[in-house]
Amino acid sequence: MNALLEVRHATRRFAGLVAVNDVSFTLAPGEILGLIGPNGAGKTTLISLISGTLPPSQGEVFFQGEPITKVPAYRRARLGIGRTFQIMRPFPGLSVLDNVAVGALFGRGGGQPKLALAREQARACLDFVGLSRFVDQRADELGGPGRKRLELAKALAMQPKVLLCDEVMAGLNHVEIEEVIDVIRKVRDQGISVLVIEHVIKAIKSLSDRLLVLHHGEKIADGAPDDVLANATVIEAYLGRRRP
Ligand SMILES: Nc1ncnc2c1ncn2[C@@H]1O[C@H](COP(=O)(O)OP(=O)(O)O)[C@@H](O)[C@H]1O
Ligand SMILES: [Mg+2]
Repeated sequence: MNALLEVRHATRRFAGLVAVNDVSFTLAPGEILGLIGPNGAGKTTLISLISGTLPPSQGEVFFQGEPITKVPAYRRARLGIGRTFQIMRPFPGLSVLDNVAVGALFGRGGGQPKLALAREQARACLDFVGLSRFVDQRADELGGPGRKRLELAKALAMQPKVLLCDEVMAGLNHVEIEEVIDVIRKVRDQGISVLVIEHVIKAIKSLSDRLLVLHHGEKIADGAPDDVLANATVIEAYLGRRRP
């Protein structure tokens, strides 16, 4: 099997609601996969099933050919599955540097146990995402765009093989979006596969090798961005709402 990550028939129910309904897809090494769909479509839930912060009601997740469905989240991080959170959770009292150092301490392969070396790794990640100037500030002093970059740096400090990005461009202006796109391209150029949730169609189209569309928890399209965005079902379910 060539896929780095594979989701097979994943379903997640919450009480009476089916948030993710029988979704299957693969992510290849070095691929950028865009995940789109209206609010409530199940995008964040799907990422949680992959990172292990939520168990699926049904279905399986494979990483590097091995089943990980029953592997807890912290061990999936050690295997190399990194994620950002849509609802950002910095450690508010810690410096920007130490927020990212925490990622390095608990990353792939068990992390870097020496704090000084974890901080060095953190510095490199902050430089990578363009936050070098803010290393000594407290994390809660960062503005919205800074916090998005901090989420990316925290996840990258874990040295993931696959990075799951949940709306890291939300609330950013055009210039900031372009900058984050550049960062994600650089991440992929390091050989890391990326799954990215994003609402700005222009941004996701230019960034993604492939697009996957969720609607009411179901996968309604999966393919080349141009084909997917021209697909009648996708236009009706999602894009059509924004056009007269
Ligand atoms: N922890 C939860 N408990 C109950 N319902 C949830 C929970 N998380 C998400 N949902 C519901 O599941 C559906 C999908 O949510 P979500 O995955 O956050 O969608 P998206 O990220 O695409 O906006 C929504 O109807 C949401 O209200
Ligand atoms: Mg979401």
